[in-house]
Amino acid sequence: MTKELALATAAALALAGGAWADVIKVGVIAPTSGPYATYGTQFRTGVDTYQAIHGHEVDGDTVEFIWRDSGGVNPDQARSHAQELIIREGVDYLAGFTFTPNALAVAQIIDQSQTPTVIFNAATSIITEESGFFVRPSFTLWQVSAPLAEWAHGQGIEEVVIAVSDYNPGIDAETGFRTAFEAAGGTVLDTIRMPLATTDFAPFMQRVRDAGPDAVFAFLPAGPPTFAFVKAYNDNGLPGAGVQLLGTGETDETTLEALGDAALGVYTAYHYSPDHDSPENEAFLAKLFELHPDAVPNFSTVQAYDGAHVIYEMIRAAGTDGPAAIEAVKGLEWISPRGPVQIDPETRHITQNVYIREVVRDEDGQLVNREFETIEAVPDLGLVNDY
Ligand code: PHB
Repeated sequence: MTKELALATAAALALAGGAWADVIKVGVIAPTSGPYATYGTQFRTGVDTYQAIHGHEVDGDTVEFIWRDSGGVNPDQARSHAQELIIREGVDYLAGFTFTPNALAVAQIIDQSQTPTVIFNAATSIITEESGFFVRPSFTLWQVSAPLAEWAHGQGIEEVVIAVSDYNPGIDAETGFRTAFEAAGGTVLDTIRMPLATTDFAPFMQRVRDAGPDAVFAFLPAGPPTFAFVKAYNDNGLPGAGVQLLGTGETDETTLEALGDAALGVYTAYHYSPDHDSPENEAFLAKLFELHPDAVPNFSTVQAYDGAHVIYEMIRAAGTDGPAAIEAVKGLEWISPRGPVQIDPETRHITQNVYIREVVRDEDGQLVNREFETIEAVPDLGLVNDY
């Protein structure tokens, strides 16, 4: 054997044995077109920012994110993307999922292929119980709605109407809020489940007014629906009628400027505001704006940023061994731009602070969700619930 041939053979053997760097692929399923395309943009911006700070490699292996467009609520599309990504692209991890039905649709597939799947948003409690391969560093509606109900009752709000989008996370928001509010001694006067496709909320506003509550608690998917709902709340004179608006992502930053003064004075409970005061948030925002000067960061940006962290830590601990990666992520703790967080070893869902916020104008006249009260280390109350 010539010297050259010997060298080439050694190199080929090393490559086959994995001694050379690999590419570890992460398939991301998220809306990048249609009315919810903002989620895709936010997810990309979050992942970009993470990779810009922490590099594109973990222990010498390159981490590559491969994107697929799910559009809106479309479980069939999500399922076929998951199949294609796992079988044809050979991805080692899956991520993304804005909508609960899309996440639920891949549970069986990821179980069969043992693919760790990191939820960047979808927020119905049951998701993590549908497959042991789901990890969720986003939030749940139970996690934010129940603390909001307790806080509101403590403020003297005695009677509410609940108005939610009629699909999984809406039902969780309704149940979480009602359970905590009634346990605190409050009364729910009426419950309205609104079709997801609703664009005209005036009839629902009339129904709220007729009930005469102290407040209306609402959940709709953040984006065009929340924008239309908050506008209708104002246009139909509910603030003047003494009905406070309580929500979760209803004053999300991507719609805030367009809402303008209509958003002022809305109270929400949520896990992230870009207005959050911490060195970790400052560093995150500085890198994000360096990369994307026109970005409008919101909860889904930070959820994808933290999601990338969870993926990097699984790769660091277990490479492409799915079951080992899931074991390794249980109990993982870090300081997120949103505050201290942990992946609950029992539920694989994030334990995090929930902040009570009010929309105000900041020193520069910008509308912000200003955090003024913190409920610390809240688990997914839909799964760990002692009401
Ligand atoms: C969900 O479908 O779980 C979902 C979608 C959008 C949100 C929150 C939850 O803003």
